[in-house]
Amino acid sequence: MADTNFYTLQVKEVTQETDNAVVVTFDIPSNLKEKFTAQHGQYITVRFTINGKEERRAYSLCSSPSMDKNLQIGVKRVTNGLVSNHINDQLKKGASIEVMPPQGHFNTKLDHNNSKDYFLMAAGSGVTPMMSILKTVLEEEPKSNIYLFYGNRNENTIMFQAELEALEKRYAGQLKVIHTLTKPSVRKEGGVFGLFAKKIVDWNGKKGRIDARTAKEIITENRKGNRPTECFLCGPESMMRTVEDTLKSLGIDEKNIHIEWFTPPTVAGEGKEIHGDGAKATVIMNRKTIELNLLPNETILDGLLRIDEDPPYSCMSGACSTCVCKIQKGAAEMERCLALSDDEVKNGYLLSCSAIPTTDEIEVNFDV
Ligand SMILES: Cc1cc2nc3c(=O)[nH]c(=O)nc-3n(C[C@H](O)[C@H](O)[C@H](O)COP(=O)(O)OP(=O)(O)OC[C@H]3O[C@@H](n4cnc5c(N)ncnc54)[C@H](O)[C@@H]3O)c2cc1C
Ligand code: FES
Repeated sequence: MADTNFYTLQVKEVTQETDNAVVVTFDIPSNLKEKFTAQHGQYITVRFTINGKEERRAYSLCSSPSMDKNLQIGVKRVTNGLVSNHINDQLKKGASIEVMPPQGHFNTKLDHNNSKDYFLMAAGSGVTPMMSILKTVLEEEPKSNIYLFYGNRNENTIMFQAELEALEKRYAGQLKVIHTLTKPSVRKEGGVFGLFAKKIVDWNGKKGRIDARTAKEIITENRKGNRPTECFLCGPESMMRTVEDTLKSLGIDEKNIHIEWFTPPTVAGEGKEIHGDGAKATVIMNRKTIELNLLPNETILDGLLRIDEDPPYSCMSGACSTCVCKIQKGAAEMERCLALSDDEVKNGYLLSCSAIPTTDEIEVNFDV
């Protein structure tokens, strides 16, 4: 059972990663070290009070349990985004913030004897969990190769560029980073009074988005025969859907395609319309039994918040899995479920932030 309590951590350092992104390093006191032990590819949830309102957001770790001493997250500004801009503008070394211990399953079991090909495909801040994954695989699986295909708008938005270059040198032959830019920078040269200047693009790497064609190219150019292949995707929804289909068409088993969703509801789509007439709910949470009446079309999580309970949650949009619970009686449907596998859903797991009961009575357990 994941620990979904918040603990106060001190910010050890905030470093400017690009014009639009920072890396936050946390100091973990020795009494919390065990709770904050992370696996590669996991995320943490941070909690702030902004304009008098509690705000929670999930941020993937960019640090690796095998390579880094401290926990780190990389936060990129979102236009008009409340928390990402708060972190970029306000968070300073020495600040205390509330953090939930690491969670998530955006990873795979590693073994020193594995000889695999890992293809990591990321756009923008989607590279953050990839940093954690690639550093861990480099250390833990010396016979595996990693290919990071990383899309950005231009040269100035590439996160972790210096670290990636250093890693590529240190693990030459094991790590290959392939960048692609949608709008490489253009500079002007010559001309008179600003007229007739030549437009020069210095970028000589790949151009364009990560899509079916470019993803296929990367796999076919680099895959070593029949070595086991694992793929990790994190970026905009359209990229991930297209690339997932491409990977499947190349014969890569669905169970070896791992996807992490960052996007909140308005971006991820409106979700499925579920109609529920309300339900009598029994909720087991923190070894306590709570009875409540859910309103028509109310999610289990919203119902618990309405009666001032303290259920675990982070993104509120079906993208992480902080709010997971297991159904014990009755039935429910989810408006949006990006974070659970089909097998988990079949086995009765629900994202309570998206689950609306479809029976008059329902019983769910968060302590599973
Ligand atoms: C499991 C998980 C891991 C995550 N890891 C990271 C990470 O490592 N680094 C990181 O920077 N972010 C990460 N995110 C996203 C992060 O949690 C926030 O959603 C993001 O920082 C935006 O929050 P905000 O408060 O600034 O924006 P909000 O105030 O919540 O949103 C403001 C507006 O921006 C839109 N918007 C929000 N997010 C996006 C987006 N990504 N793209 C386009 N429009 C958007 C919203 O729809 C809204 O209209 C992760 C999310 C999840 C679920
Ligand atoms: S809170 Fe993130 S999936 Fe429910």
